[in-house]
Amino acid sequence: MGKKVILINEGKLSEIKLHSIWLRERLNGSEFVDQNNLQRLYEPSLLDNNLLINMHSVDKNKLNVEFSDGAKGSFNIDDLFNEINNIDVIPEKKIWDVNSHNIKIFDNNKIFKNNDELIKMLKVFYQYGYVIIKNTKAEENEVINFAEKLGPVRSTNFGKLFNVISKPNPNDLAYTALELTSHSDNPYRKPVPGIQLLHCIANESTGGDSSLVDGFSVSNFLKLNQPEFYKILTNTTVTFKFTDIDTILVDQAKLIELDHNNNFKQIRFSGRLDYVPLLDENSLNLFYEARKYMFKLCNSDDFKIKYRLSKGMIVMFDNLRLLHGRTKFDPNTGFRHLQGCYIDHDVTEGKLRRSLQPN
Ligand SMILES: [Fe+2]
Repeated sequence: MGKKVILINEGKLSEIKLHSIWLRERLNGSEFVDQNNLQRLYEPSLLDNNLLINMHSVDKNKLNVEFSDGAKGSFNIDDLFNEINNIDVIPEKKIWDVNSHNIKIFDNNKIFKNNDELIKMLKVFYQYGYVIIKNTKAEENEVINFAEKLGPVRSTNFGKLFNVISKPNPNDLAYTALELTSHSDNPYRKPVPGIQLLHCIANESTGGDSSLVDGFSVSNFLKLNQPEFYKILTNTTVTFKFTDIDTILVDQAKLIELDHNNNFKQIRFSGRLDYVPLLDENSLNLFYEARKYMFKLCNSDDFKIKYRLSKGMIVMFDNLRLLHGRTKFDPNTGFRHLQGCYIDHDVTEGKLRRSLQPN
């Protein structure tokens, strides 16, 4: 009898102590959780803090446990190890740059006919941060039709979709014919839109080529090669701001945000919209040097893949990971019209997880 059970997994040569309440609140029999949604039918905060494990035994891949409050059940040992070791069904991000990469293209005529092909596309999306889909209709609103086959679209003050087209008095430089250096979209929003879809209806102008950069790879490069720059970029909180006649949107964040394990979580990079606070002179000198270096990496031929969106193509990219850009174009040489929209990671990650994970 005790508060802990020691779980030994011989295959993985690991020994882990499992706390009684930690284990108790993972019981998933019908008396403990609703079998439709696996939500608990009791308040785990009301469990006895002195709960004991009265008995446990291992039978092949099952751990059977009886607790001092009378509850009992069994656990799949692999599931416990996967949870403890943060082993996820979502594929890990792959580092890539121009030299190690080829463009990932899927066919619209296949992905919605064959669920395996859709899942393959979503896996590639999580490995590389983007996919390109060919053979969509080159018509207005097609980006919404496509996105809604995946899940709900995230509306913003730009509307449900936005038109990337050269127009007078634009409220964003995207709506001009100017070059757009590598940037992430909408760093001033709470939260930042997770995924952007851009659909090409026409791209007949001279110029207007597209580019993508993996912010995760850039961040990793900085960490390895310029640790001082990496440190200040991951520690300095800057303000991002959007202003137009109807609204002002503000958020504060780091250019490179890390998670609780100090791993890459998100990049926000948009030189048109960021304002660093008035730090001491040395910190600002270092910050500006680091940001300049990061800008150089994000616009270098080593990290920037260049491609041309043609009629009927959609690029779908992770706006928390990748940067995107385009060369300037001359609207007098031909018509260029893209439409874009945002969806959240809930849509793609949820769908992928549902397909790959039994429960
Ligand atoms: Fe953009």
